[in-house]
Formats: sequence, structure tokens, C-alpha cells
Amino acid sequence: MVGVALGTAPSVFSQTNLNSITSKTSPIAVATWNFQNATKMAGSMLYDGASALDAVEKGVMVEEANLKNTTVGNGGAPDRDGNVTLDACIMSPDGNAGSVVYLKEIEHPVSVARKVMEETPHVMLAGEGALQFAIQQGFKRKNLLTPESETAWKEWLKKKEYKPIINIENHDTIGMLCLDRNGDIAGACTTSGLAYKMNGRVGDSPIIGAGLYLDNEVGGAVATGMGEAILKSVGSFLIVELMRQGKSPQEACEEAVMRTVNKDPDYKNFQIAFLAMNKAGEVGSYCIHKGFTYAKYHEGENTNNPSSSYLEE
Ligand code: GLY
Repeated sequence: MVGVALGTAPSVFSQTNLNSITSKTSPIAVATWNFQNATKMAGSMLYDGASALDAVEKGVMVEEANLKNTTVGNGGAPDRDGNVTLDACIMSPDGNAGSVVYLKEIEHPVSVARKVMEETPHVMLAGEGALQFAIQQGFKRKNLLTPESETAWKEWLKKKEYKPIINIENHDTIGMLCLDRNGDIAGACTTSGLAYKMNGRVGDSPIIGAGLYLDNEVGGAVATGMGEAILKSVGSFLIVELMRQGKSPQEACEEAVMRTVNKDPDYKNFQIAFLAMNKAGEVGSYCIHKGFTYAKYHEGENTNNPSSSYLEE
């Protein structure tokens, strides 16, 4: 059953198109940035027969546990007041979704998001409620502010200069899409958000449709970069709907980035990037500024791939 695309525009996504993008391929794991340890984990699991949902959760958990990664999970940079607050979401091939926002003291928000999806009638839990739920589910509290992140935050406090940094240390949010042996697609997205954000700020990453969206009939998309811009374009949902209409993942990512470029006069001062994969295993990515890359695991090869960009700088 092919759904009607955005608004009242006629869908060009015919049954023929649907058949062509549901053709089977071998498993694939892709992730934003050069998070090859994550794609290796997820890809290896997929080739051992794991479901896309299990693989995508375990894949992003690699970066949530990586203390050197200051943009995701444990070791993530805190907000202006020194709180490490994490956002994450997950989607399964059946269209179900779970999300947590402003979650403190839990190393693996993606796993809490999966529990929200599987164990509650809700999609999103926030703050204290999300923490209480996580503890009820057996997750352990942990101090996520590493000495290194604390030192960097205290240094930042001296000047309190707040401006988005393009391609922060060449990494940011991890968004991942996995296609399993059955041809099913799942996705996850997890972040500590912008370094030194306002207390309470939530970005795109845990928002279904913004940081992540998928439709198992079509494909999926994930986002990284300036969450405020991605929220305003609902970029991942847009990309999946564009793919439903017959666009390739590359064309769809380009159109999503151009929506922001054409509407936001400030676009040169921040980065956004999208990564998409359709059901045939075709992958596309696009960003505003040069520097975004994505990791891909396919048939034993784990690679880092440069993305094309709107600006050559
Ligand atoms: N894309 C991550 C954030 O803005 O929070």
C-alpha cells in the first residue's frame, strides 16, 4: 500500500517504483560521521543474522560509551550549568518509535528510548520522568561528566562565548540506519546536544521526523548538525517522503538541505547534514559545509565516506 505523499501533491511514487526499491540487498549499516566502530559493531551483528533493530541499538551504544566522544552519551559536553543531558530516539521497521529527552545520568539513552517504545504506550519521555522510568527498568545512574569535559566546561565559563562550531572536532550526533537480511530497516539517533546549550534545550536528535525517520516500505534518514535548523525543516521525514515520491537518497538529502539554505539567511554560520538509505541499500548524504562524512559497513568492508556539500568550505 503506497501512502499519499506530502500535502495534496500527486505522488509520483508508483507501484513500479516501490518494487524497484524493495529489491533485496545484503545487510548494510550506515552512520553519521566517521563512527566506524559503531558501524562495525552493527554490521557484524547484521551479517550474523541480527535484526536491524538490535543492530542499530548496539551500534550507537558504542559511541554512547565512548568517553572520548564529547557529543554523545557518557563524556558528552554539559550544558551551560554543567548538566550532561542526553537525547535519543529509535525506530523499528514496524513504524514504532521511542524517544527520551533531557535524560541525565544514564549512559545509554538509546536503550531507554527502546524501552519507552516497547514497554509503554508512549513515544517520548522527558527529564525526571524519563530518569525514573529508566531506573524502574533497571538502568543504573552514573556521573556522565568526565574530568576532561568538566575542565573544558570550566574553561568555557571564563568567556561564555556561545556560537555553534561547524563540524565540531569532525563529529557530532550519531544517527544510524541498518538494513538486515530480511530487508527490514531500523534507525537510531543519540546525542548530548550542543555543547554549553541552555539548560533545558532539546535539539532534533530525539524528535521523530527531525533527527530520524523511516518507513520500512521506503527507507530511512538521519540528521546531524544544528538541531534548531533541522527541527524547523523536519528534515528526516521530508527525505523519506521525497524518496517515497521517487527521489534517490542523494536527491532527497540535497533537497532537504536546500530547504534550509533557501529559507535561513544565516545558513553559512552552521552545519546541517543528512544521511539516507532506501530499501535497495542505496545511500545518499548532503550537508551545507564541507567536512561531513559517513561510515558504512557492507559485506565486510567498513569505510568512511565524504559527503558532498552545498558550500565548498
Ligand atoms: N543535532 C544535535 C543537536 O542539535 O542537538
